[in-house]
Amino acid sequence: MVELVNKGFVKYVGVSNFSINLMERAQFHLGKVPLVCNQVGYHLNDRSIESDVLPFAKENGLTIMGYSPFGYAPGVFGMKGFPRVGSQERNVLDSIGVKYSKTAHQVALNWVLRQEGLVSIPKASNKEHIIDNLNALNWELEKEDLEQIEFNFPFGGIS
Ligand SMILES: NC(=O)c1ccc[n+]([C@@H]2O[C@H](COP(=O)([O-])OP(=O)(O)OC[C@H]3O[C@@H](n4cnc5c(N)ncnc54)[C@H](OP(=O)(O)O)[C@@H]3O)[C@@H](O)[C@H]2O)c1
Repeated sequence: MVELVNKGFVKYVGVSNFSINLMERAQFHLGKVPLVCNQVGYHLNDRSIESDVLPFAKENGLTIMGYSPFGYAPGVFGMKGFPRVGSQERNVLDSIGVKYSKTAHQVALNWVLRQEGLVSIPKASNKEHIIDNLNALNWELEKEDLEQIEFNFPFGGIS
């Protein structure tokens, strides 16, 4: 990889699903070539990076690229996917959305993007979803709403 960077074939080096230990080892082997990005899962039902990977990335100037901002595919390994209409979790997102004239998905994406040093890569094949996701930008959830979301989607388990 270092050779590819030195030859100009690769501009920046990133990794995916790397723990702190793996990021440190990658950087050791890269030498002077900086590791710039780690793509990892980040959404309301998987906040695990908040305790280790995210602070490490902030301290070391790496960008975190959060994938699956609307949750891991439902049904796979018991994953829940995006909160279903009518569930308590969905009601929380819907009621906060009413306050800002936003959808539950926009609230969830805005919540993901509140983190400094983190970008998100929502997948959307539907044009309306793409427009919806753009409108998750350029506004901020208030402290009381962040607290309500984080109370209902506690840090801990991954689902
Ligand atoms: N590095 C890794 O190990 C890894 C693992 C998983 C995923 N990824 C990457 O992460 C990206 C996204 O992940 P993902 O597809 O798992 O999850 P995601 O982006 O959280 O969810 C995609 C689903 O959400 C729907 N959606 C998007 N915007 C919406 C909106 N505004 N309202 C309602 N529904 C909306 C999409 O529907 P439509 O398609 O119908 O619009 C699609 O069904 C992909 O580029 C994927 O390659 C990387």
